[in-house]
Amino acid sequence: MSSRIPLVHCLGCGRAGRSLLRLLADAELVQVGYVVNRSLHSAQQAVSFIGAGCAADALPVLGQNDGLLIALPESQLESAAEAIQIKQSQASGSQALGFAFHLSASQSSELLQGVAERVASLHPAMAFADPKQAITQFAGSWCVLEGDASLCQQLSRWVECLAARAIVATQLDKTLYHAAAMGASNLILATLGLAQRVAQVAGVPEESSTGLLSALALRNVAATQEQGVTAAFTGPVERGDVRAVSRLMQAVSQADALSASDRQLWQQLLRACLPLVAQQGRLSTEQLQTMAASMDQQTTPTRSDH
Ligand SMILES: NC(=O)c1ccc[n+]([C@@H]2O[C@H](COP(=O)([O-])OP(=O)(O)OC[C@H]3O[C@@H](n4cnc5c(N)ncnc54)[C@H](OP(=O)(O)O)[C@@H]3O)[C@@H](O)[C@H]2O)c1
Repeated sequence: MSSRIPLVHCLGCGRAGRSLLRLLADAELVQVGYVVNRSLHSAQQAVSFIGAGCAADALPVLGQNDGLLIALPESQLESAAEAIQIKQSQASGSQALGFAFHLSASQSSELLQGVAERVASLHPAMAFADPKQAITQFAGSWCVLEGDASLCQQLSRWVECLAARAIVATQLDKTLYHAAAMGASNLILATLGLAQRVAQVAGVPEESSTGLLSALALRNVAATQEQGVTAAFTGPVERGDVRAVSRLMQAVSQADALSASDRQLWQQLLRACLPLVAQQGRLSTEQLQTMAASMDQQTTPTRSDH
C-alpha cells in the first residue's frame, strides 16, 4: 500500500465508525491503524468487519502525521479529546496528531481542538443501524462537514470518491443543524405516526394505513427532491380554500377518539403550512390572513388556555 495513503486510527468503532472505515479502506483511501472500543472483543469484531486495522485495548501514543476518527457516542467526545491530548503531550517529542474528525450531528469540531493540527466534523446524514446494509447505502447519501478548511476538503474528496455528496459549511451551528436533520427524519416519522392515528379513527383498515400513508409521504418527498419544498406543496391550504380547511379543523377538533394532544398537534402542523403557502406567493396577503384567522378561531384550546 502506498505510503501516501494516510494512516487513520479509530477510537469508538461501532456502527458508524466501522462502516465508514470499511468503505474508506476498501477504496484504498486510508490505511487503518489502531481500532479501540470499550472492549477488546468489540474492537476485534470491528477489525474483522473492516478487513484491516489492529484491535487494541487502548490507543498508544500516535504519530504526528497520523489521522484519528473519533466515532464515539457524542457524550464521550469531549472527555476522550482531553484524554488524548494529555497522552500525546506526555510523550517526548510527540504532540498533536496530523488530523482528527468525529461523526456527530450535533457537536462542533471545536471539541477536538488540540487533539490534532487539523480538526473537523463529518456528519453522514444516514442511518448506520446495520453496518452490512449501511455500506451498500452510503453511495448517493449526503455528508455535512465543518472545521479546518483543508481537512474538510480532504474529507469531502473521500466522501465523493465513495459516490456520496459532501456539503462543507464554514459557519455551522451544529445544534441547529441537528434540529434541522431531526426535522427531516424523526419529526417526519412523528407526523406519520399522527397521520396513522387519525387514519385509524377515520376508519382506514389498520393493516393498510402504513402502505397508504408512506406512499403519500414518498411522493411528497420525491416532489420535494425534484422541485423544492415550496413548489411541491399542494392541498386546500395552498388553494386558499378556507371552507375546506375549516371543515378539516372542525372534524379533527371534534374527533373525541383522538387524544387532545393529537388534535392540537394536527392543528399546529396545519398552521405550519402557512409559511410555505406565503412563500409560493399565489395567495394574496388578505387570503393568507383570512386563512390564518380561520385556523386560529378553530384551534382546540390547550389546558393552560382554560
Ligand atoms: N448510527 C448512526 O446512524 C449514525 C449516523 C450518523 C452519525 N453517527 C454518529 O456516529 C457516532 C457513533 O455512533 P454509533 O451509532 O456508531 O455508536 P455505537 O454503534 O454505539 O458505537 C460506539 C462505539 O464507541 C465505543 N465506545 C463507547 N465508549 C467508549 C470508550 N469510553 N472508549 C472506547 N470506545 C468506546 C463502543 O464500544 P463497544 O462496542 O465496546 O461498546 C462502540 O463500539 C456518534 O457521534 C453518532 O452521532 C451515527
